[in-house]
Amino acid sequence: MKKVGVLISGRGSNLRALIAATRIPDFPARIVLVISNIAEAGGLARATEAGIQTCCIPHHGKTREAFDREMDVQLKQAGVEIVCLAGFMRILSDWFTRQWQGRLINIHPSLLPAYKGTRVHERVIAAGEALSGASVHFVVPELDAGPVIAQGSVPVHPGDSPDVLAARVLTVEHQLYPAALRLLAEGKVRLEQGLAVFSG
Ligand code: GAR
Repeated sequence: MKKVGVLISGRGSNLRALIAATRIPDFPARIVLVISNIAEAGGLARATEAGIQTCCIPHHGKTREAFDREMDVQLKQAGVEIVCLAGFMRILSDWFTRQWQGRLINIHPSLLPAYKGTRVHERVIAAGEALSGASVHFVVPELDAGPVIAQGSVPVHPGDSPDVLAARVLTVEHQLYPAALRLLAEGKVRLEQGLAVFSG
């Protein structure tokens, strides 16, 4: 049973999906700590309701690495073995990504390597794409560039607004993230020489 820490900055719908999945008895991981850099993040209340320890670490007035080191202390104190970024809107320091290399995953609302960064749905619509989706990937120092563990796609319909497309992509995210976490927790995927290597 792997101990998981989840980092959030917002409403935490992916966190909710992870909480629900990890409560299923045969799930190979449990969430032991949720950290937010934003005190008002809705996800903190979700975690508290679920009886999970939470912690808010504001990032203001700190260097990126000093902030990351504070998170690292909390994660290690809680015995965390896998860190999931779930709508965590801070770029992590190289130091943190190296500390947690192979044990740090993120969900991104695009079919990576397409549409890294922010304002994804707006850019997907503007480009006239017919397909979008979500990706769970290992986190490496370069933003949104780590090897992909799992992807799911959705159609982009004519007339979609960014919000409508975001909601469609989220339904995939909520399936995909628990599935990818399961693979990692069971040791069926690992990061090896910059690649996601699958077994079993
Ligand atoms: C999700 O769509 C997630 O993929 C995205 O933020 C949203 C968070 O929603 N993450 C990123 O854009 C990271 N670059 P949630 O708080 O409801 O899970």
